[in-house]
Amino acid sequence: MRPKTKSCCSQSLLNALILALTLVFLPSCGADTPQDDSLRIGVALYTQDDTFISALAQSLEQLAQEEESRIGQKITLLISDSRSNQTTQMGQVDRFLARGCDVLCVNIVDRTAAAVIVDKAEAEGVPLIFFNRQPVDEDIQRWNQTFYVGASAQESGALQGQLVLDAWQSDPVRWDRSGDGVLQYVMLEGEPGHQDSLLRTEYTIQAITDGGVEVERLARDTANWNRAQSAARMTHWLEEFGEQIEVILSNNDDMALGAIDALSETGRALEDWPLIVGIDATAPALEAVAAGQLYGTVHNDERGQAQAMLNLSLALYAGEDPGGAVDLEDDHYIWLPYRQVTQDNLSAFRTP
Ligand code: BGC
Repeated sequence: MRPKTKSCCSQSLLNALILALTLVFLPSCGADTPQDDSLRIGVALYTQDDTFISALAQSLEQLAQEEESRIGQKITLLISDSRSNQTTQMGQVDRFLARGCDVLCVNIVDRTAAAVIVDKAEAEGVPLIFFNRQPVDEDIQRWNQTFYVGASAQESGALQGQLVLDAWQSDPVRWDRSGDGVLQYVMLEGEPGHQDSLLRTEYTIQAITDGGVEVERLARDTANWNRAQSAARMTHWLEEFGEQIEVILSNNDDMALGAIDALSETGRALEDWPLIVGIDATAPALEAVAAGQLYGTVHNDERGQAQAMLNLSLALYAGEDPGGAVDLEDDHYIWLPYRQVTQDNLSAFRTP
């Protein structure tokens, strides 16, 4: 059975769950409802239809419930889906502010629109946490109550490149199919303009070439973080380049899974597949690592990011110094580390 079917089901289950949470939580934050001592956090997701983002939102929800029972502070999450539309997201931010939210968490659709959101939050005195999609530093520095929670794009690219380098150097007979000593690759890129697309692409290649391996790019294209778009690109490249492709580099796991879907379709034996790597360590990607289809991935700590957003929100709500609750860099940034995942350490990442 193609892994695609399985992932689509779990994706729609996740989406349904988030939608249910949104419906449950939205009414409790109306301006017309009596104020209580609940911490109200408005969370705008760039789109709910993204495997990594829906996992992060799910973690946030779960951690908020755990924190609520642990410290006795009521926490109300309002989660909205911006459907990849910045205008829609602006309206959601306005509504969160009008409804008296105490903190805003924004997964911005268009990174260049950040200054407007900072100004809106500042005008209402509501602290603002951007996450996952990083605005430029100038916008983050605009107000001292603006923060960014994320992970270093450079680091993830470098770790992915090192994974490839290690595999290539430890088993050249298997991966250098042409035997020419040059690594022939295709690159599946995330959304244009996203910091993770630009920097992962650059730093993955840099880590490989810094390790002394010559590379040749056969093709590159964006698949917008999306599994189906990636499968379509890969099908085309497999027709065009066939067995010339030795390595498939993907800016995230969903697109690596799309490449796996395309390869599965060809019926080619697994031992003849190119080396494939992703980033995120989503649940379906970990299954693909276990199955030997995905050589490895880089763990993007969505739970750690959700926990940092929550800790920061609680500190800001209580009027405490945020530096006491989270590791703050340059007064505005919280960085979570990435980790490499292969079959060797897979058990540390899979939930039983
Ligand atoms: C993740 C992608 C995700 C994107 C959304 C990246 O950090 O690796 O899987 O689609 O963020 O902004």
